[in-house]
Formats: sequence, structure tokens, C-alpha cells
Amino acid sequence: MSADKAEKAAKPDPEKLPRDIMEQAKSALRCISSGDRVFVGSGLAVPQLLIEALAERASELQDVEITHLMTFGPAPYAEPGMEKSFRTNALFTGANVRQAVNEGRGDYTPVFLGEIPRLIRSGALKVDTVLLQVTPPGTHGHCSLGIDCACTLEAARNAKNVIGLVNEQMPWVYGENFLHKSAFRALVRYDHPLPELPRKAPSETEKIIGMFCADLVPDGGCLQLGIGAIPDAVLAALTNKHDLGMHTEMFSDGAVELVQKGVINCSKKNLHKDKMIASFVLGSKILYDFVRSNPLVEFRPVDHTNDPFVIARNDKMISINSALQVDLTGQVCSDSIGHSIFSGFGGQVDFVRGASRSNGGKPIIALESTAKKGDISRIVPILSPGAGVVTSRADVHYVVTEYGVAFLHGKTLRERAQALIRIAHPKFREELQYAAKMRMLV
Ligand code: COA
Repeated sequence: MSADKAEKAAKPDPEKLPRDIMEQAKSALRCISSGDRVFVGSGLAVPQLLIEALAERASELQDVEITHLMTFGPAPYAEPGMEKSFRTNALFTGANVRQAVNEGRGDYTPVFLGEIPRLIRSGALKVDTVLLQVTPPGTHGHCSLGIDCACTLEAARNAKNVIGLVNEQMPWVYGENFLHKSAFRALVRYDHPLPELPRKAPSETEKIIGMFCADLVPDGGCLQLGIGAIPDAVLAALTNKHDLGMHTEMFSDGAVELVQKGVINCSKKNLHKDKMIASFVLGSKILYDFVRSNPLVEFRPVDHTNDPFVIARNDKMISINSALQVDLTGQVCSDSIGHSIFSGFGGQVDFVRGASRSNGGKPIIALESTAKKGDISRIVPILSPGAGVVTSRADVHYVVTEYGVAFLHGKTLRERAQALIRIAHPKFREELQYAAKMRMLV
């Protein structure tokens, strides 16, 4: 399932949030003043109750910036009418803030995911308050950040105020993702099930793309999988592989199945041998139960997981990410549809670069050859006006569609155009060939 469609399915009902705890939360949030920057925890670890409580203070606040990666659930701070009080700054644009960003009521910051913690540390992205969800403190007083420590830990280490939503259903996980209870200005207790992303079986097209990608994964390879329907389909196609590792920014339920089948065991990794490394997970309760107190899994912030030099230390690093458009020279657009901002850089470039420097590594961009029910080609002569390049044509290596694999690295523009036309949908090949001729590419 695409992350976007899953996101819509994950929304909890804000009406059901308990009033007494909301009042506690509102009082904890009194430290937030007009003009502050508030960083909120990411993915499915969003402290929704704290966000709803902050939104209820809208009439008292002006120009509060809400900074975040992809978050699931309602984003009341980005609703029309909130713009005097709050302004979203999306470091990755999810469905819940996309309209605000594209209507100019919010901002999008294009940034490599792995570099965000350094921006926070340096003060270039100074954070006043962090709102995050954690486990109750353990025997030694530490709370685990559970299913997300991507940038939240670094934000908390550098913020004036850290407000935690304590939830005993947040899984306690290993790695570098703990905050001592003394680091919090306030802890608000609210035990509740975490939201889940429903899974959907991959389409026939996604299955074929998954199989082409799986052919590029050697036994003993180390995986990174990005966001979207195709990475899920790739996991489903890897069941006959052996001794795979995982060093990734995120993983989902599909990876759990591969561990249970003995396909992923991380035994051949050079770095973090016998450990799956991630900074967040997106999935169902099955996934949360899998990561809970599991010594196989370590969560680490993205300045570690996404550092290309760290990534490259594992041999046979295979990164698989998706895209919205690829032009005939190999420029990859993944964060916008023309001028319209759709998502973000995430870790795509971090992992493309890390995998390309790994011994035997392969960076893969996998996408369906068409969009809009087959009406338009995603392989295009030139990117749509306004489309942003995420992976540059010097970085790109493998591009995969349901029609095959194009290897572009070190190839001329002419060779790239030919290889990409071969994996375009047949009904668009003639016009792509014509456009390539006009541009002297073939
Ligand atoms: N022109 C117009 N519309 C397009 C399009 C194009 N070229 N390409 C896709 N679309 C539409 C699709 O039809 C779909 O619309 P629908 O929901 O109405 O069917 C929508 O855009 C989403 O496309 P889809 O391919 O389903 O997206 P996805 O959920 O599989 O995600 C990316 C793909 C590229 C958006 C996602 O992987 C991403 O954000 N990547 C960038 C960051 C990254 O790779 N990070 C690495 C790890 S997080």
C-alpha cells in the first residue's frame, strides 16, 4: 500500500481523547510562547493528544512553527484558519499537511534526512520545545522513544522544553533512543494503542517490479527500503534469499516476515553484525510486538543510520527507493508532482550515496512505468515544470519498472535515453524515442 493511502486510514478520532488528560496536557504546554519552534515526534509515534491540546491554545498563540518529518494522524495546526497561530514546516510532507504546504499556508524544507540532526545541533534549526511519545521510565529512570528516534532524540537533546506523552503501549526498544525522565519538563500519562498502518497485497505490477528488484539482491546483501508500495512488494519477493541484513532508516511488517522465515538474520553484516538497524518503523501491532525488547533490533538516530559513510561500511548494500518521475537523462524526481509538493527527500539520497560506495552495493530506484491509471508515463523526456530533482543523474545507478532494469551509472546521455525507453511502458516508447531524437539524445 502506498504510504499516502495508508496514512489516510490511520487517523484516530480526536473526539475520543480524554478531557482530564487534555487539561493536564494544556497545562504542560504553557511553556510554549508565540514565535517558538515546536518539533513533534514522527511517523506513528506522533503524540497526538499533545498536538490536539496545543491546537486548543490557538487563540493564545501567534506564529508558532510546528516542525516535523512525516507524521500520521490529524494535523490541526495546518488546518485553514490556523495560520495566524501556527505554521507548519514540513521536513517531509505527508498527506496531512500537503494542502497547507501547496496553498502557501505552510512550508516545506527540502533536506537530506541524515543531515537534520546536525542542523538542530548547530542551532541552524533551533528547537524551543519538543513534543514526543515515550514509554514509562524503566528501572533506571530512562524512557524509550520506541518506534521513532529518527530526529526526535536530537531535537530533545537540544530543546529548552521536552514534553513527553507517556504510553505504556509504546514498545520499549534497544539502541540509542533513551531519554532520562529528568530531561523532561513534563510527562503526561495516556495509555492507548498506537495507530497502525493497514497492509494491502501488492498489485500485479508492483509484484513484477518487486521481482526485478529481488533479482538484484544477492545472498548476504544488506537492505534499505524506502517508503511506498514498491518497497513492500520487494520484501515479498525476497523469500528465497539467504542471510540478508538490514541497515535502513525505516522498515515495515514485510521485514518481520523475512526474519521469521530466516531470510533476514544480519549474520553477514560488517557493521552492526547480527543487528537490524533502523530509526523508525511503520506498520501494525505485529511489527510493534516484534521490535519490543528484541535484541535483534536497534533504533538509532538518522545521523547514524543515514550517514553515507556509515551505510557504505556494509558490503553489498542494496537501497531500494521509489520515485514519481525520471527524465531520459536519469534525473529522479521523488518529492513533487510538478510544482506541487508531494513528499520529501527522506533518506533517498543518503542511501543512494551510501549504497554506491559499498563494496558490491547497488542503489535502486523502482517505480511503475505509468501513473494516473496508465494515462501518463513516469519516464519523461523532461521533468514537469517545477519538479524537483532528488537523486541527480550523476548519483543514479539502477532504475527498475515492470518492464525491466536500466543501469545508468557511468553511461552517456544517449545510452541512458535508450535504456530508459526500453523500460518505459510500450505505449509511450515511440513518443519518448521521438523526443530523444529531438534532443539529440539518440
Ligand atoms: N504525475 C502525476 N501523478 C503522479 C505521478 C506523476 N509522474 N507519479 C505518481 N503520481 C500519483 C500517483 O498516481 C498516485 O496518485 P493516486 O494516489 O491518486 O493513485 C500518487 O501520485 C502517489 O504515487 P505512488 O507511486 O503511489 O506513491 P508512493 O506512495 O508509492 O510513494 C514516493 C512514492 C516517490 C512519493 C515516495 O517513495 C517518496 O516520497 N519518496 C521520496 C523519499 C524517499 O525515497 N525516501 C527514502 C526512504 S523514506
